[in-house]
Amino acid sequence: MRKDLFELVPLKCPFCGASLAMLKVHAMRGDEIEEALLQCKSLRCRRVYPVISSIPVLIADLSAYIPTQAGLLRRLEGGCLGDAFTADLERFCGVAASSFRRPSAEEEKAHRMSLAYYLLRQYPMQVTPADRLEGLIPIRRDSALYGIDGIIGKMPRTGGVAVDFGCAAGRFVFELASVADFSLGIDYSFDLVESALRIRRESQLMFELSGEKGELRPATIKFEAGDAGLRSGFIAADVLAPVLPEGSLSIASALNIITELPKPVKTLVSIDRALGPGGYLLFGSTYNWMAKLDDEMLQSLMCSHESYEELFRAVLTGAVSPALLSGAYSIIDERDITFYAYIEKRRYMLYVMDFLLCRKMERQL
Ligand SMILES: C[S@@+](CC[C@H](N)C(=O)[O-])C[C@H]1O[C@@H](n2cnc3c(N)ncnc32)[C@H](O)[C@@H]1O
Repeated sequence: MRKDLFELVPLKCPFCGASLAMLKVHAMRGDEIEEALLQCKSLRCRRVYPVISSIPVLIADLSAYIPTQAGLLRRLEGGCLGDAFTADLERFCGVAASSFRRPSAEEEKAHRMSLAYYLLRQYPMQVTPADRLEGLIPIRRDSALYGIDGIIGKMPRTGGVAVDFGCAAGRFVFELASVADFSLGIDYSFDLVESALRIRRESQLMFELSGEKGELRPATIKFEAGDAGLRSGFIAADVLAPVLPEGSLSIASALNIITELPKPVKTLVSIDRALGPGGYLLFGSTYNWMAKLDDEMLQSLMCSHESYEELFRAVLTGAVSPALLSGAYSIIDERDITFYAYIEKRRYMLYVMDFLLCRKMERQL
């Protein structure tokens, strides 16, 4: 994390929402804090959160979280962290690095597949027709973030802080840095934000891709985040945790995340809480569209699409908004963005994102 991250975004305790302070810095890497401990300032809470590989891990229950993160487990187990830091993790966070079991071969594979899935979705890369990931085919290999280019171009330079909620491997965080002063990616997955950080630092990332017969082959992403990378940061946190100060953001984006979560409306309320008046919300959710459809399929797809589109439109702009959100939103742009194709049982499906660019209005009494 940048040394001045807290000046840019005064991050809060995910458990109680009070301010955090730096407790101890263990390792620096250039200008970045690589390993450290953060502590909640509330005397009643005083919980401690680690910064690992430059990523603040703002997760209230670390012992339950760590076993679900294969990359983080490997890091804890591999002795990559300084001894003093490892001892402090145990002392302050109750995390004994040695007590977690190794991820199984199956978990490792699932981890690699999920990482490759997001890398392939988010970054341009050289692929051959044989490169498939469980059927996923990126249809615009050379485009900025799967056809989302043009959206950022529609926005004025707002300055301030942008946050991409559920940023995965971070591509959109870098895009947002072109209109904001600082861009922060939040994702529950430590492993995904770590990959984003590695791309930012090394301008490339090696990973494994499954070939046509399921065999694993090495692949490389090359991506220059450049100046956008310097003005970007990442944290591991739950979108529902109160880690951002109220009304502090000039841009919030939530792409392909709301409908994936068990509490979509609560998530929207939490994003709205962090966005300042006049701020921009970029909001998108996928649905799929098949080249060959029968009536029954068509009907079920249309129904599910219409229902969530209607729901979120109503929540953002309609009668529900004043009761639920801190202000109504005016829709500036709305469109369907096709962003990847999927092949399954010899049928092609296009995944399309229903996208809204909205602006938060002042609360109307
Ligand atoms: C479908 S992906 C969308 C990623 C990215 N926004 C995109 O459009 O390519 C959903 C992302 O949300 C993250 N996620 C899921 N639940 C989360 C939660 N409770 N808090 C934060 N991130 C979460 C996942 O790790 C994943 O990266």
